Amino acid sequence: MKFKKHIFICTNERTNGKESCGEACGMDLVREFQQQLGAHGLRTSVRAQKSGCLDVCSSGPALVVYPEGVFYGHVTNEDVAEIVASHIANDKIVDRLRLKF
Ligand code: FES
Repeated sequence: MKFKKHIFICTNERTNGKESCGEACGMDLVREFQQQLGAHGLRTSVRAQKSGCLDVCSSGPALVVYPEGVFYGHVTNEDVAEIVASHIANDKIVDRLRLKF
């Protein structure tokens, strides 16, 4: 596997007037993840990138972490450091932001 983990961050912008992750945070979350990954020395082993709609729009801004398939919702820039330090670096899922299906 090329990456130990892969983070897909929804940056979708809807054109029908409904709120979307892209409108709420744009590329800010992607940039914050990349910065935090760098701070933890994880830029080569973990990939964070934008994605299209993850189909959890009402819980946006949203993202998903693979290989676990853990979805996070209502994520802000201030939450990114915790997700990286806890889940990405130490495999401890941040339960307060996890979307449960
Ligand atoms: S617009 Fe982000 S999950 Fe649908």
